[in-house]
Amino acid sequence: MRKSFLLAPSLLSADFSKLGSELIYIEENGGKLIHVDVMDGHFVPNLSFGAPVLKSLKGKTSLPFDVHFMVTNPSDFVKDFAEAGAEYFTFHIEAAVHAHRLIGLIREYGMKPGISLVPSTPVSVLQEVLPFADLVLVMSVNPGFGGQKMIPECIEKIRQLKKIREEKKLSYLISVDGGINSQTLPVAAEAGADIIVSGSSFFSGELRV
Ligand code: DX5
Ligand code: ZN
Repeated sequence: MRKSFLLAPSLLSADFSKLGSELIYIEENGGKLIHVDVMDGHFVPNLSFGAPVLKSLKGKTSLPFDVHFMVTNPSDFVKDFAEAGAEYFTFHIEAAVHAHRLIGLIREYGMKPGISLVPSTPVSVLQEVLPFADLVLVMSVNPGFGGQKMIPECIEKIRQLKKIREEKKLSYLISVDGGINSQTLPVAAEAGADIIVSGSSFFSGELRV
């Protein structure tokens, strides 16, 4: 398979007692972005990292931080994560009534806006905001936990997003997140994913690119 994607290992499956050296491990094993999963215990039933953790990692890698917000109030986190060094600020469309305004705020703070959708949300709800997005993150599991099995039906959304991007001459990157391992990665890559997120399979050593 021709490698046409960037690998974004997810820190959620890293050893939290040595996050600094886990960044080096990511760099040495083909990672091109650092995927950081921010969970608030409301949008998803789990808690993970806050801005101080990202801030402490800033300067320990030259790779960009691809931050995925699984939170109910994404706009509350824009300032702190911009200061902490986030490059991509990806929020869930299900958590953003005023998505267009939020995208503007993310850009004001110098970050790249990304929009994510859970498996039960169709691509069609993104129609009005796609022209303003730098990245679209297709969730291929229900968000909240690493180590889940991919829901294969979600892969079709990658094809749909690729088609819309061509038809409308847009430029967002398409990312996929959840249940990526050595079996499912080729399927996601063939469908057209530009960025592939992997947590448990990357850190267990099962997945190598
Ligand atoms: C899940 C997170 C993912 C998670 C992926 O809600 O958004 O980024 O770390 O983990 P794996 O690759 O183990 O499914
Ligand atoms: Zn994620």
